[in-house]
Amino acid sequence: MVATESRNSLTVKDNRTGKTYELPIENGAILTSDLRKIKVSEEDFGLLGYDPGFMNTASCKSSITYIDGDRGILRYRGYPIEQLAEKSTFLETAYLLIKGVLPDKERLAVWTYNIRHNTLTHSNMRVFMDGFRYDAHPMGILVGTIGALSTFYPDAKDVSHEESRKLQVRRLIGKIPTLAALSFRHSMGFPYVLPDDELSYTGNFLSMMFKMTEPRYRPNPVLEHALDVLFILHADHEQNCSTSAVRSVGSSGVDPYSAIAAGCAALYGPLHGGANEAVIHMLKKIGSVDKIPEFIKSVKAGEGRLMGFGHRVYKNYDPRAKIIKEIAFQVFEETGRNPLLDIALELERIALEDEYFVKRKLYPNVDFYSGLIYTAMGFPLEMFPVLFAIGRAPGWLAQWIEQVRDQEQKIARPRQIYLGEDSREYVPIERRPKIRPDEQKFGICRL
Ligand code: CMC
Repeated sequence: MVATESRNSLTVKDNRTGKTYELPIENGAILTSDLRKIKVSEEDFGLLGYDPGFMNTASCKSSITYIDGDRGILRYRGYPIEQLAEKSTFLETAYLLIKGVLPDKERLAVWTYNIRHNTLTHSNMRVFMDGFRYDAHPMGILVGTIGALSTFYPDAKDVSHEESRKLQVRRLIGKIPTLAALSFRHSMGFPYVLPDDELSYTGNFLSMMFKMTEPRYRPNPVLEHALDVLFILHADHEQNCSTSAVRSVGSSGVDPYSAIAAGCAALYGPLHGGANEAVIHMLKKIGSVDKIPEFIKSVKAGEGRLMGFGHRVYKNYDPRAKIIKEIAFQVFEETGRNPLLDIALELERIALEDEYFVKRKLYPNVDFYSGLIYTAMGFPLEMFPVLFAIGRAPGWLAQWIEQVRDQEQKIARPRQIYLGEDSREYVPIERRPKIRPDEQKFGICRL
């Protein structure tokens, strides 16, 4: 094939065959399926793109969240995160993410009413909750109970129906704080608290978490606002691990509760939503400011990571971390200063001057200071990823809807490069050689 030069295409020469191909470029990308045209013979499957961890593969077109990792920019639907954190509320931001526009007064009132009136869960959910062991991790409970919601709402299976999707969105955003609080109360052995519709979304969550014998729980307005801002900052982050899980599972056509439960499971991992918990463990392990140089040395020697630092996309200061650092000081004015803050501040100062971190463009991410705030507010460590999940729910749902409506999307099904055995004959067990201990430990049987 002879290539014709054009500005929006890529000309590739296959040195195995000497053939030249022209691949169209659209939106700064080539279609990797176009690589399939590049073959050494008719029987050849065609060239594949190999990209573990999707380092340079776009899996979708999206209009929800924009990130410029080199410049430290994050925008939801075009609005800078700094402006939303300062001026918006979590429920308004959720509307923005899902519907694509900021609501007018009337629409915000209806949206808020609809979410607030979907906070109760079926009473069987409590029975289900009681089935978990007394010391079950709240995030494990959240994964299980969000998945279980699909059994309470079989109508959610109709994912192609817009009205059904709208209803599931309201239910999910309304019920996630309730399930989150129930999971905490269960793990503490505290009685469950019913939602209070007269409080804000975040105030009601605090009430369901912390209300004890007082007739009415009144959230501290500084802490309520700080948590609302933290939810805004976590609300979406384009194609991260959990969102990709939601899209991937959702691409099978399953109901949104099952897809969001998959996202929640992805968020449970220490490299994703579990990192803020790991930051607190790390700060406690360091113990005092004078131990920081020794700790940094061990990180540079590859003996562990500086948790809350580094990001796949941000090669600059995470804009969310900047806002969170400011909020931390506001919260500590109310609650008293957490001594771990001094270790974190010094750790950040030293790391940002250290060649190892500078060269690899490792900056504080969203998790570096958020755990300190949650601790000051009275949340146990296990609740940190749960809080992340409450914040991320509108983003997951916005991405799920975008994917369901996208005519170009198909069931997620990556290719692989097979490096295993060629075809071989089945050997009956009495004729198989004994597996040697070294094979068991280091070789073919290793898990
Ligand atoms: N501490 C020390 N070294 C690090 C760190 C860190 N936190 N992060 C990356 N590096 C080094 C890494 O060892 C590698 O060095 P080298 O080139 O010498 O092998 C280099 O930087 C590139 O690292 P990578 O693992 O290839 O980068 P990645 O994009 O695959 O990983 C990350 C991104 C977030 C998983 C990673 O930075 C990390 O493990 N950070 C700590 C965990 C954390 O804070 N996670 C929260 C992420 S933000 C919340 C969210 O969106 O979920």
